[in-house]
Amino acid sequence: MLTSEAIHPEQNRPGSDRIAGRRIGRIRRVERTEQEILVFGERANLAFRLAGEGILRVKLFFSAMPDWETTPAVLASPGVPMEAEVQETETGYDMQAGSFRLSLHKENSSLVVRDARGDRLLGEAEWSWERERITLTVRAEADSHYYGLGEKTGFFDKKGESYRMWNSDVYEPHVPDIDALYQSIPFLVHFRKGGRASGVFLDNPGKTTFDMRSRADAYSIAADSGAMDLYLVDGPGLKDVVSRYTDLTGRTAMPPRWALGYQQSRYSYMDQEEVLELARTFRSKGIPCDVIYLDIHYMDEYRVFTWDPERFPDPKAMTAELAEMGFRIVPIVDPGVKKDPNYAVYQEGVAEGYFCKKLEGDLFIGNVWPGPSAFTDYTDDRAAEWWGDLHRFYIDHGISGIWNDMNEPSVFNDTTKTMDLDVVHRNNGRPKTHGELHNLYGMLMSKATYEGMARGLGGERPFVLTRAGYAGIQRYAAVWTGDNRSYWEHLEMSIPMVLNLGLSGVAFAGADIGGFSHHSSGELLARWTQMGALFPFCRNHSAIDTSRQEPWRFGEQVEAICREYIRFRYRLMPYLYSLFYEASASGLPVLRPLLLEYPGDPLVTNLSDQFLVGEFLLAAPVCRPGVTARAVYLPEGVWYDHRTGERYAGGRHVLAEAPLESMPLFVKAGAIIPVKEAGGQFADEVGNGELTLEVYAGASGASRFRLFEDDGKTFAYREGAYRLLEFAWEESGEGATLTANSLHDELEDGGKPLQVVVKHMARKPASVELSGAAEDGEWTYDETKRELWLGLRKTGAFRMQLR
Ligand code: GLC
Repeated sequence: MLTSEAIHPEQNRPGSDRIAGRRIGRIRRVERTEQEILVFGERANLAFRLAGEGILRVKLFFSAMPDWETTPAVLASPGVPMEAEVQETETGYDMQAGSFRLSLHKENSSLVVRDARGDRLLGEAEWSWERERITLTVRAEADSHYYGLGEKTGFFDKKGESYRMWNSDVYEPHVPDIDALYQSIPFLVHFRKGGRASGVFLDNPGKTTFDMRSRADAYSIAADSGAMDLYLVDGPGLKDVVSRYTDLTGRTAMPPRWALGYQQSRYSYMDQEEVLELARTFRSKGIPCDVIYLDIHYMDEYRVFTWDPERFPDPKAMTAELAEMGFRIVPIVDPGVKKDPNYAVYQEGVAEGYFCKKLEGDLFIGNVWPGPSAFTDYTDDRAAEWWGDLHRFYIDHGISGIWNDMNEPSVFNDTTKTMDLDVVHRNNGRPKTHGELHNLYGMLMSKATYEGMARGLGGERPFVLTRAGYAGIQRYAAVWTGDNRSYWEHLEMSIPMVLNLGLSGVAFAGADIGGFSHHSSGELLARWTQMGALFPFCRNHSAIDTSRQEPWRFGEQVEAICREYIRFRYRLMPYLYSLFYEASASGLPVLRPLLLEYPGDPLVTNLSDQFLVGEFLLAAPVCRPGVTARAVYLPEGVWYDHRTGERYAGGRHVLAEAPLESMPLFVKAGAIIPVKEAGGQFADEVGNGELTLEVYAGASGASRFRLFEDDGKTFAYREGAYRLLEFAWEESGEGATLTANSLHDELEDGGKPLQVVVKHMARKPASVELSGAAEDGEWTYDETKRELWLGLRKTGAFRMQLR
C-alpha cells in the first residue's frame, strides 16, 4: 500500500525540461560514405543511414565510428544504398539522405528533418545527456497528436501524457498513473492535423521515457542507458507509417485459424475432469469455443514442462478427448525454472550454462510461483534453442499453443520486481547487463518458444500468447493486456490500449474478457463479451478466488447474449481471417482506430470508445452499467445499423439504442464482408462451411476487399498454397458492378460454392449480366428485403453487372 510518504518532496525528481546536461556542441566536420553521413561534433557525433524505403536511422555516438548493430527487434536487412548530398551553408549543413532533407545547425547542432516536399518530420531536434541518460528533445506543434507506444493506459491520443518503457508486472489496478505495463514498444507516432504522419522508433530495450507532457512546445525521448538509436519513419499517411514500421520490425505471424476462435481460461481449471466437463458444457450449450487454457495448477509444483500427477493423471487421454470435441489446450509456461537438484530441466540448464548469471559467475535465483528459480538466458542462441526444444514435451501431448506469462520477467522481491539489474546476459558474445536489455527478455522467450514449437510441429503454425514484449513481438506472439480487473473502466480502457498496440505493429491483441481480478457481474460480462467478440484476440480469463465468469454463470439472459456474440465472431471468421492475412502482409491492424481510415476528420483524433474492425464494421461498445443508449460518431459515408438495417448519413453523431442484448454496430455502405453461416462449434468446423459474400449497396463509389483462404493451419501458404480473391464493388447512378479478381489461386480444395448477397438495393435491377465463374450462376431478387442473391458453384474470378 502506498502512503503519503510517496509524495514526500524529496521524492520529486526534475522533469525532463530541466535537464541541463551536455550537448553535441559545434559541428566540426561532415563526411559521406556510400551508405552513411557522419557528422562529427565537439562532444559527440551523429550518423545517418537509410534502413529501408522511407526510414532514416539516426544514431548518436561517442566513439570514432558508429556501431550499426541492432537489437533483435529490427529485421536484418542488407545495407540500403543512400543517395546523399551534403552542402555547407553559412549557418550549417543541408543534407539529402534518400527522400529525407536534413538541416543541421553548425553552432548548436540542432537538426530539422523534412520530406522531399519540405514537410517537417522532425525538429528542431536536440540531443543532450547527463551521465548515462541521453535525451532527445523535439519541437512539437499545436496540432501535434501522438499514438502508438504499445500497451499504455489512458485514452487514445497520448498528447499531454508521459510514459516509461520498462516491462513491469503490475497487479495494482491499471489506471492512468501507471506509466509502464508489461509491454514496451518504444515507437511514437506523430500525427498532425490533416493527416500528415511520421514515427520515431527508439531501438533501446533498457529503460526509456516518452514525455509529451512536460512541455507544450516539445516532446522528449530519453534513454537511461544504452544507445540513442533512432529510426525516423516517414508516412505520409498513418497507414504508411504503420506499414513501414512493420517493414522494419516485422509483421504479425499468420495464426492458425483455431487461434481466432473464442478461448476460455481461468486461474485455474484445477483438474482433468474439470477441463473435460467445461468442454462438454460449451458443446451442450452450443457456445462455440476453440481453446481451453491451463493455468499454473496443471504443473507439478509449478515446474514447467511437467504435469501434476494427481490433478492431471492422463493428460494425453484428456487432450485426445478434447480434440475429438474440437478443443485445443494452451498451457501456461513461465520463465522461472524451479531450483531443484532432482528436476531434469534445472539440472540440464545448470550443467549446460543456459541460465542467467552475474558477472562473477553466480546463478541468478529469484522467487516466483515455484519458489527460488533460475531463468534461461534467451539472449544466447544456444540457450534459446534448448528452451524451444523443451516444448516437444507439450507437442507430444497434442498441444500446439503456448501461453508465456511472467516474462517481464516478474520476480517476487521488494526492490526491482524483476531480475537483478547487474545480471550479465551473454547476448551471443556481446555481453550486456539486464538493465540494458530488460525489455527484450519477454520477447526473446516468446521467440524461442515460437521457433521451438515450429520446429517440433512439422509444418503446423504454432500459437504463442505473451504478456511481456518489445518492438517486433508481433512476429512471434499474440499479446494480452495482463491483469486487468472486472471494472467498467477497464472494459473501456482496453479499447485505446488495443488500438495503440495495433498502431505499434501488434495486430493480434486483446484483454481478458470479463476482467481478470475483482468480480464480474452478468451485465459486465455481457457487455464485455459483445465487444471482445470483435477483438483480434478473444479470451475470457479470471483470477483465483473471483466469481466464476464462464458465459453461463449469470443466468439465461447473459448466456444467450454471450452465445449470440460468440457465434457472430465465428460467422465473421472469413472476414477476420482475411484481415489477419492483411496484417501479416502489410502490417495494418485488424482492430482500427477511426483515425486510420478517416485521418482528415478532426472528431476522431481522440475517439477512444469506438473502433473499426477492418474498414467496414464500426463498433460502439457500451462502457457503463445501466446504459441502454449511447452516442455514436459515424464518420463520412453512409452507414447501416447492423441489427435493424436502418440507414444513416455519416459525418455526425447519432443516438444508438443499446438494450443489454445489443451493442451498437454499424456497417459502411460499400462494405464487402465474407461470412460463414453459423453452425460450427469451433473454427475449423466453421471453416468448412459455405461462404457467403455480403455486399452493402447504397452509396456511390468504389470499395475493395481481399479474401484469403488456405488450409488454416500450416505454413504451406508460404509456398503458394493459398487463394487470394480481390472483390471490388462499384456503384453509380447507372448501376453497379461486382468483380472478383483472382490474385493468386493454388489452393487445392477444388473451389467451394459461393453465395453473393447484395443488400439494401434501391430497386430490382432491370438487367444482370454475368461473366466468368458467375456465368452459370443463378440470381434472384427478394422484393421485401431488397436483396439480390447470386449462387455460384465455385469461387473464382467473375463479374456481375447490375443496371
Ligand atoms: C499472472 C497472469 C495471469 C495468470 C496468473 C497465474 O497474474 O497475468 O493471467 O492467471 O499469473 O498464472
